[in-house]
Amino acid sequence: MESVHSVLERFNDDLLQFPAYVAAFNDIDGLLRLHRETGIAQHLLILGESGTGKTTLCLDFVTRHPRVVLAERDVVPVLHVPIPPVATIAAVTEAMLTRLGDPCPTAGTVSSKTARAIKLARAVSVELLLIDEAQHIQDRGKLPTQYLVGDWLKTVMDEIAVPTVLLGLPRVAKLLQVNEQVRRRFSRRRYLQMGQHGETSIEGECLQLFLSLGENFPIPLSCGSLGWKEMAQRVYYASDGRVAYIKKLLSGAIRIAMEQQLSHVGADTLEAAFTQEVWWEGIDQLNPFNERFQFRRLNRASEPFEQVLVAPTAGRGGRRA
Ligand SMILES: Nc1ncnc2c1ncn2[C@@H]1O[C@H](COP(=O)(O)OP(=O)(O)OP(=O)(O)O)[C@@H](O)[C@H]1O
Ligand SMILES: [Mg+2]
Repeated sequence: MESVHSVLERFNDDLLQFPAYVAAFNDIDGLLRLHRETGIAQHLLILGESGTGKTTLCLDFVTRHPRVVLAERDVVPVLHVPIPPVATIAAVTEAMLTRLGDPCPTAGTVSSKTARAIKLARAVSVELLLIDEAQHIQDRGKLPTQYLVGDWLKTVMDEIAVPTVLLGLPRVAKLLQVNEQVRRRFSRRRYLQMGQHGETSIEGECLQLFLSLGENFPIPLSCGSLGWKEMAQRVYYASDGRVAYIKKLLSGAIRIAMEQQLSHVGADTLEAAFTQEVWWEGIDQLNPFNERFQFRRLNRASEPFEQVLVAPTAGRGGRRA
């Protein structure tokens, strides 16, 4: 029998084309095509909670349009720049220079670094700019820093003149309120969220993801006496409709099932996996796979899917994945 390790490895690498992901992918692809065909640079804001697939989407684009090393220069069609946690202009510019392959990203004044980044981006023929973790601009920065970074972004976008996608947590929408020029450039928005495409409900989409991930398992998934409709609801509450948590749940469950040589993965195994992988306080009626569960979102204070609407203060992490 295959080892737990190799099953989990295969499972983690599996890229799923769920509707919200495909829609966001097609949006970005459309921007790239439009630019290639007409030279027009349109921009897009992608908002999604932690673990909905924003960074995965960026990496997917980078993989499909990889850096090419030519004799005379490199070509970097897609530039993915995650905003660093302390998002000063200097730090953001350095992050961009590093991704562009600049040998000394910290050298020079802020304005000379910015000029260098713009020049280098043109030299390597960047066609698409993906700015990830945009909430970091807001999280640590005081308002003046947010304005400055916003202005910096506007300048860089105007100078490089390629489609730019800004990705971050939903609270990034608030950040854009403080800078009108940036807001105007990102008037097109997409939420990376399940349950907004076609007829399928969010619970139904969660179940589809859950089952398609489970297809490659050596041990079958079972809904037991609950039925798949109820299982779908429980999976939704256990994951908050985020792909990362569906994967955490399932990878925990398959590990338990293989170690204990179970014949199937059912609600009991998922109950244990939820406590181990998602929320250690999630027991009894706070566990979506427990029979006493109340069928409500686990988004109250200190629960795993608590909504963080404002930037966390220093010392408290905003990330939960
Ligand atoms: N389309 C997908 N198919 C399979 N797995 C995915 C997909 N999208 C995301 N994942 C999984 O979910 C995990 C979290 O995804 P990702 O890091 O892209 O989320 P994020 O939205 O960038 O979160 P954060 O806001 O915390 O940075 C990844 O490790 C990956 O395994
Ligand atoms: Mg991310």
